[in-house]
Amino acid sequence: MNNIEKIVLITGASSGMGRATAEFLSQNNFIVYAGTRHTKKFNDIKTKNLRPITMDIRSSKSINKVINFIQDKHKNINVLVNNAGYGLVSTVENLDEDEMFKQFNINVFGLLRVSKAVIPIMRTNKSGIIINISSFLGKIGLPLLTLYNSSKYAVEGITDSLRYELKDFNIRVHSILPGFFDTEFARNNLVTNLETFDKKSPYSKLVSNLAPLIIEQINNGNKPQEAAIMILDIINNDKFAARATIGDKAKKFIPMRKELSDEDFERRVREYYNI
Ligand SMILES: NC(=O)c1ccc[n+]([C@@H]2O[C@H](COP(=O)([O-])OP(=O)(O)OC[C@H]3O[C@@H](n4cnc5c(N)ncnc54)[C@H](OP(=O)(O)O)[C@@H]3O)[C@@H](O)[C@H]2O)c1
Repeated sequence: MNNIEKIVLITGASSGMGRATAEFLSQNNFIVYAGTRHTKKFNDIKTKNLRPITMDIRSSKSINKVINFIQDKHKNINVLVNNAGYGLVSTVENLDEDEMFKQFNINVFGLLRVSKAVIPIMRTNKSGIIINISSFLGKIGLPLLTLYNSSKYAVEGITDSLRYELKDFNIRVHSILPGFFDTEFARNNLVTNLETFDKKSPYSKLVSNLAPLIIEQINNGNKPQEAAIMILDIINNDKFAARATIGDKAKKFIPMRKELSDEDFERRVREYYNI
């Protein structure tokens, strides 16, 4: 894609992979609208190509306001990166309704709301790229992460269906499945269920085995700039794979998931995580 006056919208852009992508693409001549709840986190940014914009992906009204603003100014959105997301850590037994709905409201319905608002612009312009940030946990289950996993499985399903739906309008739809990445995810955006983390919980052994290990692996994970580079590659290469894995853990587990039976794969994961 020729990147003169190309417009990108990224959700959840104030930290991690969203932030790295916003900065990287704006340095590569894209005009980037960084959708965020925290525009103040961009106070130190001086480049005119990186434009923080307040967006609440729970609200169609908030989303439409952003989209209308961009459309009025540029008549186009070339690339949408659906990146915003967080992780709920809870057993299914302990889930409360609000936690459960909130996880899907952000990771799944938020992505759908933003896509729904952007698609008519791309369709009219007969061109566009939608990149959904999923997870390697969109193909692999792990205990305590059932809601997060299922939200990312949903993102995979949405991506696969949308590809057919939008093909005739020259809109590409991709998903990226990151392994563990060193972002604000474990520090700020893992929400823990109090009952699950109670020392007297019947799941306490599982929690104490798995949770610190996952947090450590995230905090020592790959660097978010790798995702930014992949996103630029996807934009520039119209033959880029529909689904791409990135990061050490994704590269380890996704091929294994394809090769092994469900039972053998589960055995390997149990051994690896001591669960
Ligand atoms: N880090 C990992 O190991 C990993 C692995 C696989 C997939 N992912 C996925 O990668 C994407 C980016 O995450 P990241 O690793 O870069 O983590 P991050 O630094 O925590 O960034 C996540 C962004 O999502 C937005 N967000 C978080 N909670 C939200 C909420 N309740 N409502 C609305 N927006 C919310 C925030 O945007 P604002 O504050 O700017 O609004 C935040 O900047 C997520 O979809 C995540 O699921 C991460």
